[in-house]
Amino acid sequence: MQELIKVLILHGPNLNLTGFREPEIYGKSTLEDIDAKIVEEAPKLGCDVRILQSNHEGVLIDTIQENRKWADGIIVNPGALTHTSIALRDALISIRVPLVEVHLSNIHAREEFRRNSLIAPVTVAQIVGCGGYGYILAMLAMVNIRKAVI
Ligand code: DQA
Repeated sequence: MQELIKVLILHGPNLNLTGFREPEIYGKSTLEDIDAKIVEEAPKLGCDVRILQSNHEGVLIDTIQENRKWADGIIVNPGALTHTSIALRDALISIRVPLVEVHLSNIHAREEFRRNSLIAPVTVAQIVGCGGYGYILAMLAMVNIRKAVI
């Protein structure tokens, strides 16, 4: 049996309101719907996932540190912390595993301040504008990056 790649999936501030806040931008699926799809698809793609949403920067950082010996990779949608948090970026770098950044919306087609990601320069890939499906694409990318399939 193939060995599963251990992936920590983090959703940052306000993503718990996905499906309810600005559905024209972030879509109508709730975070519960998105997480259920991630959990369903993960084993098919070869991933073992742990998922956390938090509105608190410190909780996200603590979770990254707690999983530093477990995670083979991290998929992160940092919400608005994308544009502001050096602390989150430092925590993400510190565990030295591939990072894939996901945004439900296409941040590059929105306000100027959303176009700059402090996280992007330390990631291997950024997936934007695909809604919840972005996490599935990110798992696919992670498996391929880890196994260097192509
Ligand atoms: C977001 C984009 C961010 O700019 C915003 O602050 C969010 C959600 C996205 O998934 O599109 O909270 O990360």
